[in-house]
Amino acid sequence: MSDDRFWGGTIRKLWPTEVEKFRDHLLRLDKSSRRMRFAHGVSDSFIGDYALRMNDMGGIVYGYIVDGEVRAAAELRKLGDAWGTQAEAAISVEPTFQNKGLGSELMGRVIRAARNRGVHQLVLSCLSENSKMQAIARHFEADLRFEYGEVIGEIIPEQPNYFSIWAEAMEDRVGYVLAVLDLQARTLAAA
Ligand SMILES: CC(C)(COP(=O)(O)OP(=O)(O)OC[C@H]1O[C@@H](n2cnc3c(N)ncnc32)[C@H](O)[C@@H]1OP(=O)(O)O)[C@@H](O)C(=O)NCCC(=O)NCCS
Repeated sequence: MSDDRFWGGTIRKLWPTEVEKFRDHLLRLDKSSRRMRFAHGVSDSFIGDYALRMNDMGGIVYGYIVDGEVRAAAELRKLGDAWGTQAEAAISVEPTFQNKGLGSELMGRVIRAARNRGVHQLVLSCLSENSKMQAIARHFEADLRFEYGEVIGEIIPEQPNYFSIWAEAMEDRVGYVLAVLDLQARTLAAA
């Protein structure tokens, strides 16, 4: 749940005003992580444009936040104007925070968010050499389908239920309170 503090940070949905923090996180990905995340090498300006569309793409972005900075993110994107049966997911964890279980934790949030929106099929596009992402997908019993050198991981979330909807709503409320407390603490520390 987002009220848990993971490895010194908090996981919660990012607000529309946090688009620049999301961009800065993506910019901190090293060359190899950028390639794995976007399936090809991307420039800073590409990332800047991509991140600034965070609010336009009509999705959800979870962030892992430490001292006010986004250090990992999980995106759930609509494929079209409204939530349908298919959606796309992507995860990014900054190199110094990798291999601590964050990617798996974020994947669980994304699957639950998809499930709560009636998505039956989550498409995770990752390069065939991305063995870490495949290890995470396997945790969630993903079926991996190989297409032209890329791996498309399709995860079929279960139907939403009262608990999954309640858990997401509770997390959002707690995430809001934690964000306010965090901001207050950092403002006081800076004063
Ligand atoms: C892929 C990524 C999200 C994983 O995040 P993470 O926080 O490091 O992931 P976790 O710690 O939860 O799990 C990593 C898994 O990979 C395994 N792993 C680590 N190094 C590995 C390697 N070299 N080969 C195979 N598996 C490896 C770990 O053992 C773990 O599996 P386990 O839980 O079964 O032991 C992160 O590395 C990342 O952001 N990479 C760049 C962007 C990217 O590839 N995004 C995915 C495409 S959408």
